[in-house]
Amino acid sequence: METLTANAAATADIYRPALHYAARNTWLNDPNGLIFHEGVYHLYYQNNPLGNVWGNMSWGHATSTDLLTWTEHPVAIHCDENEDIFSGSIVHDRDNTSGFGTGSAGPLVAIYTSAFKPGSRHEGIQAQSLAYSLDGGYTWTKHANNPVLTRGSANFRDPKVIKYDGGAGSYWVMVAVEARDFKVVLYKSDDLKNWEPLSDFGPANATGGIWECPDLFPLPVDGDPDNVKWVLTVNLNPGGPNRGSAGQYFVGDFDGTSFISTSTVTTGLNNPDLSREYQWLDWGRDYYAAVSFSDAPDNRRLMIGWMNNWEYANHIPTTPWRSPMSLAREMSLQTIEGSLSLVQRPAGYWTALAGQEPFSLADTTINDGEQVLAGAAGTVQRIDVTLTSGTAEEFGLILRGDGANGTRVGIRPDEGKLFVDRRESGQTGFHKAFPSLDTAPIRATSGSYSLTIFVDRCSVEVFAQGGQVTMTELIFPAENSTDLSVFAVGGTATVTSLQVTQLA
Ligand code: FRU
Repeated sequence: METLTANAAATADIYRPALHYAARNTWLNDPNGLIFHEGVYHLYYQNNPLGNVWGNMSWGHATSTDLLTWTEHPVAIHCDENEDIFSGSIVHDRDNTSGFGTGSAGPLVAIYTSAFKPGSRHEGIQAQSLAYSLDGGYTWTKHANNPVLTRGSANFRDPKVIKYDGGAGSYWVMVAVEARDFKVVLYKSDDLKNWEPLSDFGPANATGGIWECPDLFPLPVDGDPDNVKWVLTVNLNPGGPNRGSAGQYFVGDFDGTSFISTSTVTTGLNNPDLSREYQWLDWGRDYYAAVSFSDAPDNRRLMIGWMNNWEYANHIPTTPWRSPMSLAREMSLQTIEGSLSLVQRPAGYWTALAGQEPFSLADTTINDGEQVLAGAAGTVQRIDVTLTSGTAEEFGLILRGDGANGTRVGIRPDEGKLFVDRRESGQTGFHKAFPSLDTAPIRATSGSYSLTIFVDRCSVEVFAQGGQVTMTELIFPAENSTDLSVFAVGGTATVTSLQVTQLA
């Protein structure tokens, strides 16, 4: 068993996020069992209750009412001598189809992967198991007849269960992965206990790493409730567009049995040159294992991802905790240049946070070089900026700067690229894969680019062009690197508008 690292007490907790969830003093990875229930957002997560590196996998638990401030609760589902509790989901079994309920409210049922340990009855197998809660998600009991679904496979995991109500009937549908076969496998059930196979999906598009943590959900196209498409998300590790862990998605139709993708690139499987044609949930290095909430209010489709990357996850220099979650994001499906794309917006209930008057600027030329914006410094901020091309080959913002170090978020207009350059962002030497210059495709709107950027002590989340492209990256700057600057290379550009809101 792992214990807390020796330097736990030695370093100040300067990276603890203000707007993102991180456990108090332990490790976390994937969000699990996201559900909105009785007015509360529940976030369960892969957790090592005994340390701040991966191990002893159990489900940690936190709750929020605004998706920005979180309360940590005792571990919800513990590993034991037989099994680690891997990723999965939670449904509210309103009609008590499972029979776990006692009152009228209907139990919460968690469907998780039992990763069976050496010496256990199912050694070496990953299979799907149940636990239920009769107190709204705070305490959990494992089902006596686990596992409920096995294929005798060592890599069958990460069940996301949804209630399907459509032309084919009304039943539970599970999407899970056969990770090493690059397959999403679908099952159906009437009672969450007995499952029968429906279909498989994949391999398709990016297969540069194992497939993990799938999700399947409907969304109206361009807001039209009479035109609904289904989105299948699949996380893969490695094989992301900028290396390492990332999430891809497919848009298509689900008839209650099969998911038929209309966005599969058919000209070659896992051709690295095609990675820019695949559809990515996020182009940054630190957005993985993203899944959506069950039962979010007003039919919103809200997702949270793990803000880390398996390439260096166990080494990031935070202490005593390790790994934050991303902000919650609201997904919509929009027609962009003739194809259906996910568009993402920050979903938290922000109004309560706005503090002092924002710093603002308009129609200001950025000359070749760097200019610090006096009065805009900070470590927890929302930046809304529209930048317009001039003669510069590259322009943008430098976040968390100090004259020497800083994180550059910018545009290379001739290449149609948005980039995050964290090669000189502060501490980068803890792993050789960490320092990086990462890019995403971006199209200008009449020569302009609008970016909403959240800076939160150890992270930068960029929502570009209204959320058409997102990039999420960890950074570990010095505590006193707080400057915000604009920069241009080889010419000029314009800050058409800029607003910086301090959110600490
Ligand atoms: C993804 C993942 C899942 C697994 C969990 C184990 O990050 O590898 O496939 O269930 O983490 O912690």
